[in-house]
Amino acid sequence: MEKRKLGQNGLEVSALGFGCMGLNYGRGSDLSQEEAVQLIGAAFDRGVTFFDTAEVYGPFTNEEFLGEAIAPFRGRVVIATKFGYQFDEQGREAGLNSRPEQIRAAAEGSLRRLKTDVIDLYYQHRVDPNVPIEDVAGTVKDLIREGKVLHFGLSEAGVPTIRRAHAVQPVAALQSEYSLWWREPEAELLPVLEELGIGFVPFSPLGKGFLTGAINAQTQFDPSDRRNGIPRFSSEARAANQSLVTLIGQIAQEKNATPAQIALAWLLAQHPWIVPIPGTTKLHRLDENLGATDVELSSADLKSIQIALSEVVIQGDRYPAHLQRQVNR
Ligand SMILES: NC(=O)c1ccc[n+]([C@@H]2O[C@H](COP(=O)([O-])OP(=O)(O)OC[C@H]3O[C@@H](n4cnc5c(N)ncnc54)[C@H](OP(=O)(O)O)[C@@H]3O)[C@@H](O)[C@H]2O)c1
Repeated sequence: MEKRKLGQNGLEVSALGFGCMGLNYGRGSDLSQEEAVQLIGAAFDRGVTFFDTAEVYGPFTNEEFLGEAIAPFRGRVVIATKFGYQFDEQGREAGLNSRPEQIRAAAEGSLRRLKTDVIDLYYQHRVDPNVPIEDVAGTVKDLIREGKVLHFGLSEAGVPTIRRAHAVQPVAALQSEYSLWWREPEAELLPVLEELGIGFVPFSPLGKGFLTGAINAQTQFDPSDRRNGIPRFSSEARAANQSLVTLIGQIAQEKNATPAQIALAWLLAQHPWIVPIPGTTKLHRLDENLGATDVELSSADLKSIQIALSEVVIQGDRYPAHLQRQVNR
């Protein structure tokens, strides 16, 4: 698979990464460790060298699955994980915390669960309003100096925060939502990333599954599925947003591809420093998604997609209010 560079310090990854979260957290699926290990191994066999997880996924088990899976080929893959939460005595997520001592403790836990002595890319998961970003960047800088981390990343940070962090410790990648139905990063964020030479890792590149056409207004999510709490996934919003799915389906037919492949190929075509991280629990969908790297969208294709998209109005916020406050700050 084609390789892409994130940031200016030699971080090189496959053009498509693999988002591990939904293997056992947030998307209603609960794969066993054995099943997760098999799927991650299959992704590696197919050329994926970039795997995304976080301390908070599970919490903790998602990192354990990834650590187990990549142990046989650790030296040949890039692991990205994230800090920024605290946990109660039962190990449940208990709010944001990016204080230096919390970051250090999180890094030790992640290193242990990932069975590695270095985290390739370490993101702050959400900006903590109680901790100056300079302190966060400074702590990661220390971890880099100590050899425990190789590259620094941010997730859902706003432009002023990115600039301040980057001045302390160069940021290799920003990971934020970006897809055919969430294009806000185009306005302010992408130009600043280009200016600073920071890579971009779009999460939820398939619109949490919606853009693939596999979800409609009647789809019932498992009670553990976090999409139940997302306004954009109310059944009314799903019904209203079907016109986008229809449009993507038409483009897919013209290009002899699937809607999921169009959603990913469109992201890949935006900039050479963009690396989407789709997630799936299914081998046949992994193959389908990786097929996006063979779908070429010409500038005429991109232009007609742009025109078609401008006629679609998306309904529903991408996060409920309490989580919306944590993004872009
Ligand atoms: N930094 C952050 O705050 C943040 C937030 C969210 C996600 N992430 C990262 O981004 C990764 C991906 O995001 P995501 O899981 O939210 O969304 P996504 O990759 O856009 O979509 C995943 C969903 O789509 C389904 N799917 C995947 N391929 C498909 C296909 N070809 N056809 C039909 N359905 C398909 C999957 O279901 P099946 O399993 O049934 O295939 C799953 O429910 C996560 O794993 C995580 O690593 C980061």
